[in-house]
Amino acid sequence: MFVKNTRDMYNEPMLKEGALKGKTVMVTGGGTGLGRSMTQYFLKLGANAIITGRRADVLAETAQELETETGGKVLAMACDVRDYAGVEAVIAKGIETFGQIDILVNNAAGNFISPTERLSHRAFDTIVDIVLRGTYNCTLALGKIWIANKQKGSMLNIVTTYAWTGSGYVVPSACAKAGVLALTRSLGAEWGKYGIRVNAIAPGPFPTKGAWDRLFPKQFADKIDPAGRVPLKRTGEHQELANLAAYLVSDYSSYMTGEVVTLDGGEWLNGAGEFNWLDEATTTEMWDEIEQMIRASSKKKE
Ligand code: HXC
Ligand code: NAP
Repeated sequence: MFVKNTRDMYNEPMLKEGALKGKTVMVTGGGTGLGRSMTQYFLKLGANAIITGRRADVLAETAQELETETGGKVLAMACDVRDYAGVEAVIAKGIETFGQIDILVNNAAGNFISPTERLSHRAFDTIVDIVLRGTYNCTLALGKIWIANKQKGSMLNIVTTYAWTGSGYVVPSACAKAGVLALTRSLGAEWGKYGIRVNAIAPGPFPTKGAWDRLFPKQFADKIDPAGRVPLKRTGEHQELANLAAYLVSDYSSYMTGEVVTLDGGEWLNGAGEFNWLDEATTTEMWDEIEQMIRASSKKKE
């Protein structure tokens, strides 16, 4: 259907070597999935990293692997982002270790598919608390320090495209991500005067174990092809998300704040357009026939 480039560059690191040299980045949920991939690239670009998550063993293993691979320094600290005191403790240890924290990536999330009426109120709380409360806990705890110290900083929130469209079957996540999007835009305006930038990425489908186990269970394997729903006919590659994330947290995007950048191969727009389903339902022969019918009926009216 399309000609493949002889060299697909989206899998290649994009920013200049040393683009994050001397910066310290805190990544929530940095032990796995997209958080791990972003952290890996930040380290390659010269940053120090602080990674958090609830599982100390997972974090320790990731930290060791990333240090070996990149030569960077990683502080791994278990913390539940729902616990404000725990978040403050990670930040304090991060500052003690690296001198200061320059960048925050709010990436930790919880999610699973379910009909909403099957959820207990505790299940709903769990997702909203991890995603929204977790994000504002980290944002507030670090933002207060930056403002008090007159320190510039950059924050990046990982949302989803259904943060603005909503979506059935992931309703707590949609509510919470919409809140994170509002936080992004609100603080983009309010904290600009302190030199604090707040941006977001809305990824489409990027294969990770965490997301795939909870959102695309094997019962659906022959019913949904996550790549098939995407106009560009593929899922995302972690390096291309890491490239965008590195740009947004780096000084290269100094004039950008309050922005949400969609990286989804056109997926959400494809779902939104009323007639986009015709892509799958039609052939060229059908279009010949349909065109003749429509032209004929237009003539009749004239
Ligand atoms: C209904 C469920 C449930 C399910 C849990 N619960 N799973 N209810 N269906 N499948 C209920 C529990 O019964 C309990 O309610 C409440 O939710 C809390 O469950 P716990 O297991 O105690 O919570 P916890 O141990 O904190 O685990 C949180 C979790 C888990 C969200 C449930 O899945 C997790 O740890 N997730 C982290 C990683 C993750 O989700 N990654 C995916 C991000 S992907 P009761 O009433 O019984 O007490 C993403 C991408 C979106 O966001 C877009 C993709 C294209
Ligand atoms: P993932 O690997 O499951 O990442 C979620 C991370 O959050 C894990 O490392 C998890 O570690 C951590 N976490 C969960 N609850 C936490 C808590 N209470 N406190 C601290 N850390 C917690 O899934 P992913 O796909 O990489 O998702 C990363 C981000 O991308 C999420 O914000 C997700 O919504 C977003 N996203 C993903 C996709 C996709 O297609 N993959 C699409 C759109 C948006 P512990 O379990 O050890 O705590």
